[in-house]
Amino acid sequence: MSARLVLVGSPGSGKSTVGALLAERWGEPFADVDAVIEARVGKSVAEIFADDGEAVFRAFEESTTAELLDAPGVLALGGGAVLSPATRAALAGRPVVWLRVTIAHAAGRVGLNEARPLLLGNVRGRLVKLLNERTPLYAEVARASVDTDAQTPEQVADAVEALG
Ligand code: S3P
Repeated sequence: MSARLVLVGSPGSGKSTVGALLAERWGEPFADVDAVIEARVGKSVAEIFADDGEAVFRAFEESTTAELLDAPGVLALGGGAVLSPATRAALAGRPVVWLRVTIAHAAGRVGLNEARPLLLGNVRGRLVKLLNERTPLYAEVARASVDTDAQTPEQVADAVEALG
């Protein structure tokens, strides 16, 4: 068994919302890598970053992603999952869709949410840096992309379904 759909993209691209919506439409399970890590470790992502450091989080992220890719349903990866060469290799040949978002829309959606440790302080500036680094990586792993700016989650879900 393997995931029917894998969503990648920046924080604020709507991976979790759209992923849950599509899983509900299809009557399939939905998993969000961040949420699975939080449940297993018993800490929020922000607490893992603060207590254990980013490298520990990235190691959990890499192993949890590898495991969940082989489970059925819809899977939302963390925005930084594509930084891992092992994860990029594991995504080859999978039904990966990149939810694209511009900085302005991502910043609006993320807001001042303290659950995202990498965005604390200067959300817009940090998103610019993340997107500059990661845009080529999302493009590398994705089979298709969907523009999410000014779209409702339902519209984005429709666009993903229209990819076939
Ligand atoms: C991160 C994105 C977060 C979470 C962690 C690191 C990143 O997931 O995995 O805070 O490096 O962009 P979302 O993309 O769901 O916000």
